[in-house]
Amino acid sequence: EIEFFFPREQTLAVIKPDALEEHREEILEHIRKGGFTISRVKETVLSKEMAEEFYKEHRDKPFFTQLVEFMSRGPCMLMALTKENAVEEWRAMMGPTDPAQAKEVAPDSLRARFATDILQNCVHGSTDRERAAIKIHFVFGDIRSEGDVAGDVQGQE
Ligand code: TYD
Repeated sequence: EIEFFFPREQTLAVIKPDALEEHREEILEHIRKGGFTISRVKETVLSKEMAEEFYKEHRDKPFFTQLVEFMSRGPCMLMALTKENAVEEWRAMMGPTDPAQAKEVAPDSLRARFATDILQNCVHGSTDRERAAIKIHFVFGDIRSEGDVAGDVQGQE
């Protein structure tokens, strides 16, 4: 099996409530065409508590309350995406946080095409492998303890 020789990586991707309602199929098509494998998937309405936990690193930001409201307002699709260099490649496909900036610098990105504003910006993706592992565990967390996941991102499927 040739793919054995190419280390594969996972990232946690989310289609946020605005985009899941309006652009589900187009975004899934981008993901498939981008060569990502959707290794795990869950469609759910996040509770306020889950949204707070998910974005806890932003708890002191002025937009935190709005962010939690928005993320828990309707169903999200949460996915573990697998591909070589998945973290970076999914961030590139997403584009910058602010869609106005995305339209300038990455017009083909998901946020340039489908985001409404900096809050309702259609998708989420982990920024590094360690956080990806922690978030995948938080969302799908039935497989191993949190202490184990950080060193074991590659090759999981
Ligand atoms: P952040 O982690 O900075 O961006 P990214 O999603 O690109 O990793 O911010 C997390 C989310 O918080 C972002 O997707 C939308 C929201 N947000 C705002 O509502 N206003 C803001 O000014 C920023 C920076 C983010």
